[in-house]
Amino acid sequence: MTDLKKHFAVIGNPIHHSLSPQIHIAFAKENGLDIDYEAVLSPLDQFKNTMHQLIQQKFTGANVTLPFKKEAYQLATTHSSHAKIAEAVNTLEFKENEIIGHNTDGIGLVRDLEQNLNVDLKSKKILLIGAGGAAEGVIYSMLEKKPSELMLTNRTIEKSRAIKNKMDMHAKGFNVNFNVIEIAKLPHQYFDLIINATSANFNNAELGIDHKVFHESSLAYDMMYGKETSYMKHAKSQGSRVSDGLGMLVEQAAEAFFIWHHIKPHTKSVIESLRAL
Ligand code: ATR
Repeated sequence: MTDLKKHFAVIGNPIHHSLSPQIHIAFAKENGLDIDYEAVLSPLDQFKNTMHQLIQQKFTGANVTLPFKKEAYQLATTHSSHAKIAEAVNTLEFKENEIIGHNTDGIGLVRDLEQNLNVDLKSKKILLIGAGGAAEGVIYSMLEKKPSELMLTNRTIEKSRAIKNKMDMHAKGFNVNFNVIEIAKLPHQYFDLIINATSANFNNAELGIDHKVFHESSLAYDMMYGKETSYMKHAKSQGSRVSDGLGMLVEQAAEAFFIWHHIKPHTKSVIESLRAL
């Protein structure tokens, strides 16, 4: 008998914490689709082999998480415009003769901000903390929304400068004041939205962001999810509205679901049920 069920997976290392199987199965159920979606742990030096095994087993697509997003970019034979600009891929489609790489992280962040948290990015002043893959992956999607200002900062400021140089031409196209600011100069600036895209929370490190950066009318967003981070606690103590990145996780999954199934799933109930856990 032919297996009509479509198979999907999320690949990472580590992967046991991943909520992606739960999210995609919930989307599928809501839309009457019968799919398989599993979490696959790939050895750090075996990403390509792991993916080729999935392709051989006729998987339809896969999500890719840390630390393989750059390798997934290399693996893809065709790239969406967002993947090309970020040089990182979190969603793959396996077709007959090609592997299409997408990046839905930026779209996920912007949708969470705009649709779930009611923050219109147009003409806003935004500060992005961090200069790793998580930060780089969302910059283009934010520029597309034409904030008045997008400032980059990072512990290692040279990395922010390198990203700025790479993305400058896009910022000019959208007429955004796109710049780098050192952490020490932050107290003299106002931002509507401050996004933590660092991995500092993994080891509970403080970011060294001065409390004056946070205002009652600003939103402090942390891309991490699962617990209130020290960054969120700090912002909250200064009267800022705060959010973790659970909504971004669900929204980036929704965009991947749309790419694979051409259906836009409802996200709010999934966010609520995950938050209740
Ligand atoms: P990812 O792909 O998740 O972004 P990454 O490429 O390792 O991971 O980047 C991690 C980011 O978190 C970087 O911006 C890093 O700052 P540096 O570039 O200075 O290394 C930041 N980060 C990690 N630990 C940090 C800490 N303890 N304090 C401040 N920033 C930290």
